[in-house]
Amino acid sequence: MRGACYTFFVANRTIVPARRILGAVSLPGDKSISHRYAVLAAIAAGPTEIENFSTAADCASTLECLERLGVEARRTENKVRIQGPGFRSLRQGWRRPDAGNSGTTMRLLAGILAGQKSQFTITGDHSLRRRPMRRVLEPLRQMGARIRAREDQFAPLKIEGGELHSISYPMAIASAQVKSAVLLAGLFAEGETSVTEPVGTRDHTELALAEFGAGVARANSTVRVTGRPRLAGRPLAVPGDLSSAVFLIAAACVLPEANLLLSGVGLNPTRAAVLDLLKAWGASLRLVKVESRHGELHGDILVRAARLSGGVVSGHDTARMIDELPMLAALGPYTEQGIEIRDAAELHVKESDRIAALAANLRRMGAGVEEFADGLRVAPAGETGLRGGAIDPQGDHRIAMAMAIAALGAKGDSVISDPACAAVSFPGFFEILDRIIER
Ligand code: S3P
Repeated sequence: MRGACYTFFVANRTIVPARRILGAVSLPGDKSISHRYAVLAAIAAGPTEIENFSTAADCASTLECLERLGVEARRTENKVRIQGPGFRSLRQGWRRPDAGNSGTTMRLLAGILAGQKSQFTITGDHSLRRRPMRRVLEPLRQMGARIRAREDQFAPLKIEGGELHSISYPMAIASAQVKSAVLLAGLFAEGETSVTEPVGTRDHTELALAEFGAGVARANSTVRVTGRPRLAGRPLAVPGDLSSAVFLIAAACVLPEANLLLSGVGLNPTRAAVLDLLKAWGASLRLVKVESRHGELHGDILVRAARLSGGVVSGHDTARMIDELPMLAALGPYTEQGIEIRDAAELHVKESDRIAALAANLRRMGAGVEEFADGLRVAPAGETGLRGGAIDPQGDHRIAMAMAIAALGAKGDSVISDPACAAVSFPGFFEILDRIIER
């Protein structure tokens, strides 16, 4: 599955404006949680069976990397069974691990591989080979890791695994991937490794570490992990991906009629800030059947149509909604005041330069967009609305889906090139839309 949207020609997809969205949807498993369960399962003793493991191409990249490192990963229907060769027994076979489009795969694996007893080269696709890796190289090198990178900052990464020592790392940027790389490397170091975050980012790594039996604790903004634990494989279940659910929730804020049930969605508080923001802006959302599984909250979301006020997203909120910012920006034309996103310079170094990609696509549909170094402002479109346009997602799944939702409320048809890139995080996105949308 991985890489299909980059390798082959994929037909364009036409988005015809819609009137309403109705139905019940189960989302594919959460991508962030799936990555973490898989990499921890790979170094745990005994098998781990993971229910509702993400079907996203990014998570397929993680599984394929693990297989190339000597891990058994078998997918059956909705489950993945993983059996690793031992805590420090990963070995690279004749094919080097390829993280595809997935930054999480590469950065998490860098942390794990740094503590192994062998040598590795991990690469990625064209987009990933241009994304910043120094942010993980620096702390891992402080722990004694020997890692070389192209121009000392880009993949492929050449990692010579070995003995690591614990550190206390004050993180300069808000990044769950960097925090996770350090904590995972900390598993191989004697003593306690700690990371202090400037903003609390998603805590799936901490919760997953505790599930597998590692000693992990948080005090204020500092997370500590105790090295050399005995990790035990175990059965796990992944909730639906909230970052994918947000595209369907947004459709209910674009169309005049909506009634949606999104079942079994991950509602971890470090991910759910976007729901609070949308509610504060007037969205009609109700959470029901909320329960905790493996430390993660799962629940159903009931969504009705609502008109949003819009407003500003900045500061800590920006970091907490980093993956939802493309969808929020594309909602701007449908709000009363427009939407401004600030403190979001990180968007330049995601799967695409998301600020530039959003501005170009929204402008093509007639939206008023002002770009800043750290974000953008998208003006309300009022009665004029958006016109249909040619959408170029620039290979970026979240741009494709955000623009597809914006196109549902436009005054004419839009055409998306390379729609298949949505499968990087949300396979079946367009098929689900076709099922629940009425024109
Ligand atoms: C992720 C962390 C975020 C997010 C990415 C997934 C994770 O990246 O944007 O989609 O699973 O840890 P950063 O750590 O670069 O902010």
